Amino acid sequence: MNDMKDMTLITQKIAMTRDLGVHGNLFGGNMLSWVDEAAGLMATKICQTTNMVTVKMEEVNFKKPVKMGFSISIYGQVVRMGRSSITLYMEARKHNVYSGEETLVTSTKIVFVRIDEVGDPIPINEPIRDKYKELIK
Ligand SMILES: CC(C)(COP(=O)(O)OP(=O)(O)OC[C@H]1O[C@@H](n2cnc3c(N)ncnc32)[C@H](O)[C@@H]1OP(=O)(O)O)[C@@H](O)C(=O)NCCC(=O)NCCS
Repeated sequence: MNDMKDMTLITQKIAMTRDLGVHGNLFGGNMLSWVDEAAGLMATKICQTTNMVTVKMEEVNFKKPVKMGFSISIYGQVVRMGRSSITLYMEARKHNVYSGEETLVTSTKIVFVRIDEVGDPIPINEPIRDKYKELIK
């Protein structure tokens, strides 16, 4: 779990009946899709291009169940800047609308790669890489 002050709120979702699995919890595949989409939004915004693809989703932890009607907030943070790739640490948190309290439900890291028009990797623009130079590894 990262310090929340370093994380950016990307999007929010509500768990609906259609999103649930056989145990009445949010289906894991739906959560993966939400987190991947949110991370994609953040990666394209930061890298200032729509041509970013997911190349890796690291270990995913489903720490708490999400039930119908729960509000979910999805946060991201850049943790690594490569040449053509960027790695985001992602957290989904359930949000208690009465207390404002948030509880971590899912976390993972996702790697995106910038591609050209034929799908080959190309470098992320230098000024953007410069901005994150302390995260270049
Ligand atoms: C993304 C893709 C273009 C990368 O092609 P590639 O031949 O592996 O490219 P390279 O070996 O030159 O690596 C390019 C970058 O990707 C990174 N990368 C490739 N595979 C990776 C992996 N499994 N984990 C982490 N990073 C990876 C490399 O480290 C490199 O990063 P850098 O430039 O920052 O150093 C290719 O794997 C692809 O098209 N994958 C499918 C993407 C897709 O369709 N995603 C949607 C999922 S359904």
